Amino acid sequence: MNSMTVETATGGIDKKTSTQERGIHIRPRLPDIEFDERLPRNHTGSIGETAFANMAGVFANVAEKMFIRSGNLMLPLVGQREYEQELANFIAQEAYHSRVHERMNKVLRTKRYPVEEFRSFAQRIVDEIFENAGHRMILAASLAGEQAIGLFGDALLEHPSALEKWNEQVKRLLLWHAYEEVEHTAALFDSFHLAVGDRDNAYKLRMWGLAYLTVVLASVWGAGLFVFMQHEGSREGWKLRNWRDVGSFFFGERGVFSKSGGHLKDYLRRDFHPWDGRSAHELLEKHKTYVSPDWDMTGKVKQKPVRETNAISAETLRKDVNNWVEGACFVRFLLNAGYLTGRFFLKSTAKRFWREDRKAYEARAVPVTG
Ligand SMILES: [Fe+2]
Ligand SMILES: [Fe+2]
Repeated sequence: MNSMTVETATGGIDKKTSTQERGIHIRPRLPDIEFDERLPRNHTGSIGETAFANMAGVFANVAEKMFIRSGNLMLPLVGQREYEQELANFIAQEAYHSRVHERMNKVLRTKRYPVEEFRSFAQRIVDEIFENAGHRMILAASLAGEQAIGLFGDALLEHPSALEKWNEQVKRLLLWHAYEEVEHTAALFDSFHLAVGDRDNAYKLRMWGLAYLTVVLASVWGAGLFVFMQHEGSREGWKLRNWRDVGSFFFGERGVFSKSGGHLKDYLRRDFHPWDGRSAHELLEKHKTYVSPDWDMTGKVKQKPVRETNAISAETLRKDVNNWVEGACFVRFLLNAGYLTGRFFLKSTAKRFWREDRKAYEARAVPVTG
């Protein structure tokens, strides 16, 4: 990890974090972005993209809870003041992300989207990580998740026109979120390496975490996109065109990743660091209009004490990774995740479920605007 020493206000020596070295400061912000029932059904201009935006907003609540939990697990083990502060700001940012996503989810709920059904399914899959492989795998999966979102944030800031047709409020939410994801990309990563210490063990954990995250994304996003497409119209989930739209949103000619190749495969490198090959400071400077200074909550965030049930000992975290043992846990996780996904999928395709849902939706539907 890159770091340099700096004189603290009290005269002691403290370390500058890799984020600070780049002139980046993680600031918790609470934006004034609000949503109301005028949010049109097809609010991105494409059913596939709308399903993605809605699904991702609900999934964000589950993922951010996992990131916050990981940050809290790390806090007592980091041992360096600057990194602790950065981690606390990371936790606060994620908590505000969740709060603003929830504003939009509330509107989706009034329109009878299957918010709760999907959220509890996604939570069950994430819980399976903990139940099969323990707290440190939640951490490792979060680490991979943060890197993936950080790259998505980079790509979106470099190419915001991928959201050209999106509803203005949803777009504002995504751009603010992307900005902060770039800002805090290295926070969890740096703390994790400080806490684990041994680079070899940290690497093995990182790779297992990536494997868990891949399964979570494939199962939760796959099933989630389907049910959210179905909500736009009873056969929309079966239409290839909608799935192609989701693919093009990411990788198409005008898609999010069209201007930046990302560095996803770099994560596999042993000496990977989130800031490698990125000019995040310039990117953030260029797009600082996506965040308002009025939203800054620095100094106003109350830190909650970490509950004992949500703690990991340094010994457990640093225990040697045995790939055979981890492999067996992973296979068990895979089977359980497959079962849960299959069950959710079957349940959500049951005709009665959708018929009732549609009726309730039609009764509450509001005219589509802008
Ligand atoms: Fe977030
Ligand atoms: Fe994040």
